[in-house]
Amino acid sequence: MEGYTTANFQVAENFRIKYLGTKGIVKSMMAEMKNIPAEKRKEFGQVMNDFKVFAEAKYETLKEINSNQQSGSGIQMDLSLPGDSLIPGSRHPITLMRNRIVSIFQRLGFSVADGPEIEDDWHNFTALNISEHHPARDMQDTFYIQGHNSNSTEWLLRTHTSNVQIREMEKTRQPDGKAKLPIRIICPGRVFRNETVSARSHCFFHQVEGLYIDENVSFADLKQTLYFFAQEMYGKDIKPRFRPSYFPFTEPSAEMDITCFICGGKGCRICKQTGWVEILGCGMVHPKVLENCGIDSNKYTGFAFGMGIERPAMLLYGVNDIRLFSENDVRFLRQFTSVT
Ligand code: PHE
Repeated sequence: MEGYTTANFQVAENFRIKYLGTKGIVKSMMAEMKNIPAEKRKEFGQVMNDFKVFAEAKYETLKEINSNQQSGSGIQMDLSLPGDSLIPGSRHPITLMRNRIVSIFQRLGFSVADGPEIEDDWHNFTALNISEHHPARDMQDTFYIQGHNSNSTEWLLRTHTSNVQIREMEKTRQPDGKAKLPIRIICPGRVFRNETVSARSHCFFHQVEGLYIDENVSFADLKQTLYFFAQEMYGKDIKPRFRPSYFPFTEPSAEMDITCFICGGKGCRICKQTGWVEILGCGMVHPKVLENCGIDSNKYTGFAFGMGIERPAMLLYGVNDIRLFSENDVRFLRQFTSVT
């Protein structure tokens, strides 16, 4: 304490001597007055006076800090200490992955579209050609919302972000009944499925879905777009594979695999020795889905795709329990230092 006050007293005293002392800067500048041309003298005097007032105020402040410390009434301040270091936060790993995926598609001209997490049956199921008896509608898979029944609408937590695609397609409808296209969107967001929570699966997770509709969009466009995405995301050396699949809202439908980005296709624990990992579902938008949204399916075609974020994030970051993403444990989150 003694040391601090002496040091601070010295700081104040040094300041006084340098600026306000008999041989100080203010005095010697005043002495210059006689060399200033008469017509400039007034202006010079004013500037000098302002400077003197400023220096005196600064000196008073320095003295005050010193006396506060001596009386013990103020904050202890050692002006020679370095400042507190600033610890920057970090982005959540799911956000990092989402941003990576989104930025790749943005470079291809896709823009981000957003939509509600609480959704009606039409936008989550019916418009997507998911029939009344489809197992996805089962209470076992979908969270239905009770007591949200203003009219006879059935409300639920969306099971995929395809609801945003329907909403965006509906928005293209013009007053004359025709649709204004093209659409080129990606829909990142949180989705909910009534699954048992374990290290491998959770009752909510994140997806990025995409949709491109225009005249003459073909399956070749789908393949090339998704191949470009996979190379940007997982490395130039990966090879793609499209396996026939089924989704009610696309026809034909496919699942896209890539050569395992951990072992390079040789076979490892991650790819269960197959050399391949599945990364997304995709297909050509079913004509019925286009018609449900007022788009002429004879004139327009399109492709759609959807992928989860948690699973690739687990593989790329080496996370072995999906629950870690939603527990907000800073010891986990702090490890993701990137802020991009
Ligand atoms: N909606 C599908 C899902 O949630 C993903 C998907 C989107 C598949 C678009 C094909 C085309 O699993």
